[in-house]
Amino acid sequence: MARLLVTGGASFIGSNFVHHVVAHTDHHVTVLDKLTYAGNRASLSGQPEPRVDFVHGDVADADLVDQLVESSDGVVHFAAESHNDNSLECPEPFVHSNVIGTFTLLEAVRRHGVRLHHVSTDEVYGDLALEDPGRFTECSPYNPSSPYSSTKAGSDLLVRAWARSFGVAATISNCSNNYGPYQHVEKFIPRQITNVLRGIRPKLYGEGRNVRDWIHADDHSSAVLQILEKGRVGETYLIGADGEKDNKTVIELILTMMGQDPAAYDHVPDRLGHDLRYAIDPTKLGDELGWRPRYRDFEHGLAATIEWYRDHEYWWAPAKDATEAFYARLGQ
Ligand code: NAD
Ligand code: TYD
Repeated sequence: MARLLVTGGASFIGSNFVHHVVAHTDHHVTVLDKLTYAGNRASLSGQPEPRVDFVHGDVADADLVDQLVESSDGVVHFAAESHNDNSLECPEPFVHSNVIGTFTLLEAVRRHGVRLHHVSTDEVYGDLALEDPGRFTECSPYNPSSPYSSTKAGSDLLVRAWARSFGVAATISNCSNNYGPYQHVEKFIPRQITNVLRGIRPKLYGEGRNVRDWIHADDHSSAVLQILEKGRVGETYLIGADGEKDNKTVIELILTMMGQDPAAYDHVPDRLGHDLRYAIDPTKLGDELGWRPRYRDFEHGLAATIEWYRDHEYWWAPAKDATEAFYARLGQ
């Protein structure tokens, strides 16, 4: 049995990963999370006590991180500021958590010789044209657009440098857009589902032709676990599930699946520098590690996600009003 340190384990994807690890391994998990507006301890509820410990703290706190890393066999690093719209309004926390936080963790794993998996995003590669038949690969050049994606790109480059120059045993994964349970209502899919549940019209940025490559968070978790256990140290793996859809299609699907008129949404002003299209080629992960997604049918996964939000209003309701007030100030 291994002792895993999971930073940002109270996040959307981090909490899905902790549930996945508890269900599929006998590892012990220690979660380190700052519980920012995006972190939620309730996302970890229902875990058997001896399997998961929770530490409230900042991944940029060098003394705390040193002590936690020293008593771990491996670290999976999810902690980050993650929302593009917030990063455009106030970039500073993105530099702190994503860049300084990752630097702090790297110094600790370097000191103690502990294995690290760094969780990142395909947004570090910038965007593809809508009509481009290509997809991102591990060789795509870095070209981030927003303070979010540029600070994640910075964190990836720090990991690469610490691996090469200091021999840190690290892997990196860059995954496409996730959906599923425990996602904050600021993000596209849960925002629209909870809008419908609240009787608010869904909001589409611009014309909604932008394409995202959707993957269920549980598939992201299974890929991260496989990379941690079987991935080659020093390597980067792209994670995606062939889930390309434009935003207009997704908003219409949500409305239809929730029994509404598919045209009952508002067009709102577009995001600054809005990336057009993300698309992942996951060949390396499939060929090297044999990973395959379990949720191959987006509509099936979306239906389950809609049900989850219907059944868990207690989980999302506390954040809903403040989130919509933020968007109202932006006119979105
Ligand atoms: P999230 O916004 O839901 O949660 C972020 C978490 O990090 C919260 O629990 C927060 O409390 C914690 N956190 C923030 N700053 C911290 C700090 N300084 N110290 C400790 N904890 C801190 O995030 P998410 O959407 O689940 O994303 C998790 C990770 O996955 C991020 O690294 C993100 O870049 C990456 N990722 C996300 C997606 C996606 O679609 N959401 C896709 C690919 C990669
Ligand atoms: P988001 O969930 O913020 O993820 P990301 O910016 O990381 O891709 O947004 C997904 C897409 O949905 C993106 O193209 C912006 C768009 N969007 C809307 O059209 N309306 C919304 O209310 C939100 C939050 C996003």
